[in-house]
Formats: sequence, structure tokens, C-alpha cells
Amino acid sequence: MKLLVFAGSTRQQSFNRRLAAVAAAMGRDAGAEVSHIELADFDVPMYNADLEARGTPADVLRLKQLMFEHPAWIICSPEYNGSYTALLKNTIDWVSSPVKSDPNWTDGFKSFRGKVVGMLSASNGALGGLRSQSHLAPLLINSQCWLAPKAFALGRAADAFDADGQLRDETQRKNVRGVVEQVLWAAQRLHAD
Ligand SMILES: Cc1cc2nc3c(=O)[nH]c(=O)nc-3n(C[C@H](O)[C@H](O)[C@H](O)COP(=O)(O)O)c2cc1C
Repeated sequence: MKLLVFAGSTRQQSFNRRLAAVAAAMGRDAGAEVSHIELADFDVPMYNADLEARGTPADVLRLKQLMFEHPAWIICSPEYNGSYTALLKNTIDWVSSPVKSDPNWTDGFKSFRGKVVGMLSASNGALGGLRSQSHLAPLLINSQCWLAPKAFALGRAADAFDADGQLRDETQRKNVRGVVEQVLWAAQRLHAD
């Protein structure tokens, strides 16, 4: 099973990027073929239809292809003002926008349809960015994704990781592993043929 893991933050010391690294390692341990990507590695401007009319950026096409190729995803979502980040929304908006000039990408939801997505979030607040998940869920469902019923929000994230980037607490590790394994379980069944 091919698992795509990414975080909606580009911050150097990002908790969500660290959580994504933990989830990616757990995916590998579970036998998945993991692509752990950084959104900072993709040159994606703020969405603008006039800009798009001049040509979809090459890195948006790269993201479309990458997302299309992975039936299982883990998204680590930071919380800004009770919601997900502009980076995450901008990425999803670009990837969902049809490329009229390319017959491969006239279907905007091609990269999303049928994906099994597990939501994780991390914040130093007590709720761990949980409210970002409540906004991300309908966005993903609207994009034709299937959401794993299990999700996990890592609160007090500043104290949660050790110097090697591992989660200190076994219960938290178990919760993240639970999401990763459920996503792989469901994606294997949904994409069995
Ligand atoms: C504009 C802005 C709004 C924020 N709003 C919230 C919030 O509503 N809830 C919360 O728990 N943290 C909030 N934070 C704090 C972020 O969760 C924190 O910066 C977190 O570390 C971001 O994720 P990252 O570490 O993966 O970059 C906010 C941060 C910014 C910059």
C-alpha cells in the first residue's frame, strides 16, 4: 500500500512536520510504501485564476500526480484561528482545480477520489489542533475522500517530542499508530481490485 504523508506547515520546528515524520515511520513499520513529502519542496503560489489561465505551475502538476498515485494519506494539520492553515487550503485548491488544456487533469477531483485519509494535528494548546480537523473533514469529504474514523490531536506538543523527534508518551504513540494502521487497513480494502 502506498501511503502519502504530509503536514500543513513549513515551519522549521513545526510540531506537525515532526508528527508527520512519526506517522511516516509507523507507516513503514506497518509495511507501507511511504512517501513523506514537505510542502516547502513544492513551488506553489497563492491560487489565482488569472495566474492559472497562463498555465498550471509544474509543481502543482507534480502534486496532482503524487496524490493520485497514493491511495492512502495522512495529513498533519496545524490549527490557525480554529481552522486549518492557508497553506493546506491553497494546496488542496490548486490540486483540485481542473487543467483544461490537459486531458489527464480535466477531472479536478481525480487526485482525491477514493483516497483514504487519516487526520492528525498538533498544537501546544490543550486541544491539539482538534478544531482544524473539524474544518478539514468536510473539505476532504467534498473532494471525494474517505475519512478514517480514527483521528488524533496531539496537545501540549512542545513537550511531546524527545530530542530524536520521537513521541515520549506510549499512549500518544498508540493513538498515532491506530490512525496510520486504520488508514492502511481501509485503503487496502477499498483498493483491493
Ligand atoms: C495566525 C495563527 C493562529 C493560531 N491559532 C491557533 C488556534 O486557533 N488554536 C491553536 O491551538 N493554536 C493556534 N495557533 C498556534 C499554532 O497552533 C502553532 O503556531 C503551531 O505550532 C503551528 O503548527 P506547526 O508547529 O506545525 O507549525 C495559531 C498560530 C497562528 C500563527
